[in-house]
Amino acid sequence: MKIMFYDTKPYDKIWFQPMGEEMGFKIKFQEVKLNEDTAVLAKNYDAVCIFVNDDAGKETIQVLKEIGIRTILLRCAGFNNVDLKAAKDAGIQVLRVPSYSPEAVAEYAMGLLLTVNRQIHRAYVRTRDFNYNINGLMGIDLVGKTAGVIGTGKIGQMMIDILKGFKMNIIAYDPYPVEGLDVEYVDLDQLFERSDVISLHCPLTKDTKHIINKKSISKMKDGVILVNTSRGALINTSDLIDALMERKFTGVGLDVYEEEDAYFFEDKSNDIITDEDLIRLTSFRNVVLTSHQAFFTKDAMEAIARVTLENAKAVEDGLELKNLVLP
Ligand code: NAI
Repeated sequence: MKIMFYDTKPYDKIWFQPMGEEMGFKIKFQEVKLNEDTAVLAKNYDAVCIFVNDDAGKETIQVLKEIGIRTILLRCAGFNNVDLKAAKDAGIQVLRVPSYSPEAVAEYAMGLLLTVNRQIHRAYVRTRDFNYNINGLMGIDLVGKTAGVIGTGKIGQMMIDILKGFKMNIIAYDPYPVEGLDVEYVDLDQLFERSDVISLHCPLTKDTKHIINKKSISKMKDGVILVNTSRGALINTSDLIDALMERKFTGVGLDVYEEEDAYFFEDKSNDIITDEDLIRLTSFRNVVLTSHQAFFTKDAMEAIARVTLENAKAVEDGLELKNLVLP
């Protein structure tokens, strides 16, 4: 199988190159993202391999179909960037890596929570400048406080385990509660009203888009801490900014951002940033914004490469496709 990789970074090649060669695939790595204009680069290939910010919308799929691509290999769990119906209509199968390291993401979410609560990001900057004043860096004890987890899939469950280690009271919301999970399921309104900390672990769907908005924020406790390691569009950014200006949040930890496609994973330090919401978010002292790196551990990267290539192998060998994503 010949696979064209899009949006490739040096760290992708570390695992994909040797594993791909060993499994007999012909791989070409492109740095550009997949979109309607770049899809044609995959001409004469069998499959494209894409990441979270590649665009596999209807128009792109049309081009992929025209050049004979039969398979889209997602080297990630989320698939909100693929028009699944268009892919199905075009006879293109979509495979993903449903789970590589839920621990990596949950551990990072906890890291963001601890950072914004105890203001470690500010302390780091201060002591680098030999400023040892701790004024303004006060946080709260997490023990005994209530954490609300939205989405109790693989990552949400791992987050619940971690939060339990901090002896927090956990409440959760999921339209498909996990049977036997030792957590108190509540409805969304209750979760917003009761939580001191809210962590988002649901996928981005039409039901979850802007699940955090002006109305839901108004139901939250003053001083709540919000963490989002799932997808940026779960939060209505301008509503979040308004609430931050009104001092609603003690802290907000974001690893994802609604309009991240144009910025994240790229070095923009020599550019002028024109996205005003991104600038505003970055400017709040109580917001820590990172560039979609919650998944980024050695263990996760190795697992992503292995499962992505096993998916390709299953297609090549006509085996059962257990990681197929259907509309
Ligand atoms: P999963 O599929 O195991 O769990 C998702 C859970 O969300 C399920 O239990 C599902 O029932 C629930 N859910 C569905 N609709 C919901 C709704 N309307 N409200 C609340 N919950 C809802 O997925 P997993 O592996 O736990 O990943 C969760 C999300 O984390 C992914 O969809 C992805 O967007 C994000 N992610 C982010 C990464 C990062 O590096 N920042 C890396 C990997 C995943």
